[in-house]
Amino acid sequence: MLKRKLLIVGLFILLAFPTIPRSILAQEITLPENPLMGRMLFYQKGCLGCHSVRGEGGNVGPDLSNKGHNRSVTQMVGTMWNHFPKMYQKMSQEGIPFPRFTTEEMAELLAYIYFAGYFDKPATTADRLKGMTLFSEKGCKKCHSLDGAGGDVGPDLTAWDRFASPVLWAQLMWNHGSTMRDKMITKNIPWPKFEGNEMRDLVAYIYRANWPPKQDVSYSLPGNPAEGKRLFNEKKCVQCHSIFGTGGKIGPSLTDKRYDRTVTQLIGIMWNHAPGMFEKMELAGIQRPQFSGGEMSDIVSFLFFLGYFDRPGSADNGRRLFFVKKCALCHGLRGEGGKLGPNLTKYSNIEQPLQPVHIAQAMWNHAPLMAEIMKARNIAWPRLEENDVNDLMAFIRGTGSNN
Ligand code: HEC
Ligand code: HEC
Ligand code: HEC
Ligand code: HEC
Repeated sequence: MLKRKLLIVGLFILLAFPTIPRSILAQEITLPENPLMGRMLFYQKGCLGCHSVRGEGGNVGPDLSNKGHNRSVTQMVGTMWNHFPKMYQKMSQEGIPFPRFTTEEMAELLAYIYFAGYFDKPATTADRLKGMTLFSEKGCKKCHSLDGAGGDVGPDLTAWDRFASPVLWAQLMWNHGSTMRDKMITKNIPWPKFEGNEMRDLVAYIYRANWPPKQDVSYSLPGNPAEGKRLFNEKKCVQCHSIFGTGGKIGPSLTDKRYDRTVTQLIGIMWNHAPGMFEKMELAGIQRPQFSGGEMSDIVSFLFFLGYFDRPGSADNGRRLFFVKKCALCHGLRGEGGKLGPNLTKYSNIEQPLQPVHIAQAMWNHAPLMAEIMKARNIAWPRLEENDVNDLMAFIRGTGSNN
């Protein structure tokens, strides 16, 4: 499994949104094509020796399966920074050389940790039983039969047990959504809504013949967020939804809220809103998009990745933090600050704005020396909270909002 992943080769490409505000453009919208690529680095750089992700790996440090969840890229940088002294100590104890990263490597690694939170925990046998109840409760059984029991308004679903992936199921259901909706209206069946892990459990139930799955199905279908971004335009989602301020206003903006839920929770959201969307599509004369192949998977992983990017940070707060968190003791910046560490003014270059991965890489690679100097001078390792790295970055590069 790992070997196979080691062989996956791909490239990170920069997909800049053409008309987004400058502050966001500077935040770098770099979407990975295969977020699992960082898995290789996770192994090569020795992280796997101490950390597990989805059950594979060591247990010296915490399992990282959910650590990227609900955290933007700079929040993850902050987390790694905060844990650095203890990690470094463990590395020294275990004789593990301190790994250093190029910016590309850091980008892959952070995307990988973030993406680990995309996958559902595999359903258990108890979850499958819930799925059986859901099949009746959500009204599916009124129209579909399974193993000879159920209605005949829609096709028999017995043969569908080949498809264990909730995303493929969601795609099928979405594609047939209009017809299903019409039938539901005539039969007076309310549009079923899915909360939490219900979609996952339902699919686990229908997948009964092959239970338990021989492989971790959702993990093998990661989706391509960069491709999802392209489809978002092609499928006309952008005519109704805006992303970082660009796009239509018929539907809600998809960057006001964070969508870093698991894959089946996300498709549940799309499904729940489908009737509302279909209605507006009819009104706007937009053909209901159909999905094939891995398209649904790509779109959903794109939505997921929107939570990876930071909203503009506050340069004013960043300036305050630069002093409070003691960076200024050692670093000079635009005429202020100390000389023990390198001057950071070079990062204010507007043509090549400082990006989260740059600061992540710089801070990680230099951490051992910084720690040594701090220790020698009796300076406590500064802890960075929630949005500190984002605000510090806004200050260091001299951009971002000034409030
Ligand atoms: C020698 C063991 C070891 C190695 C190797 C190691 N770590 Fe850690 N890591 C730890 C320990 C121990 C902690 C918890 C530290 C703490 O509680 O402050 C930790 C914490 C973390 C956290 C914070 C988790 C949280 O609770 O939010 C992240 C993220 C992390 N490590 C990432 C990495 C990455 C990426 C690598 C590879 C470059 C790596 N670690 C290599 C031991 C290790
Ligand atoms: C009111 C009846 C009705 C209900 C309730 C209903 N469906 Fe359907 N379903 C249909 C019809 C009719 C089709 C065929 C639509 C078409 O041909 O486009 C269909 C198609 C499907 C398909 C595609 C099957 C294929 O062979 O291509 C799937 C999967 C599906 N439904 C799953 C579900 C699930 C899961 C539920 C419960 C959450 C559900 N349906 C609830 C009527 C219903
Ligand atoms: C014709 C306009 C239109 C198009 C095209 C459209 N949507 Fe929507 N979308 C809406 C509307 C309106 C809502 C709110 C519906 C509701 O509340 O029930 C919505 C809701 C959503 C939501 C849930 C938002 C929330 O409240 O959290 C998501 C996610 C979403 N759409 C994604 C997409 C994607 C992906 C596409 C392209 C495949 C798409 N939409 C295409 C109009 C549209
Ligand atoms: C005790 C002194 C000290 C403190 C406090 C300190 N640093 Fe550093 N920093 C250094 C030194 C020394 C280096 C160079 C390390 C090396 O070359 O490996 C460095 C390197 C860096 C670099 C990489 C610079 C380059 O040239 O690429 C960045 C970015 C950085 N620090 C940011 C910060 C931030 C942000 C803070 C506050 C949260 C901070 N540092 C606090 C001493 C410090």
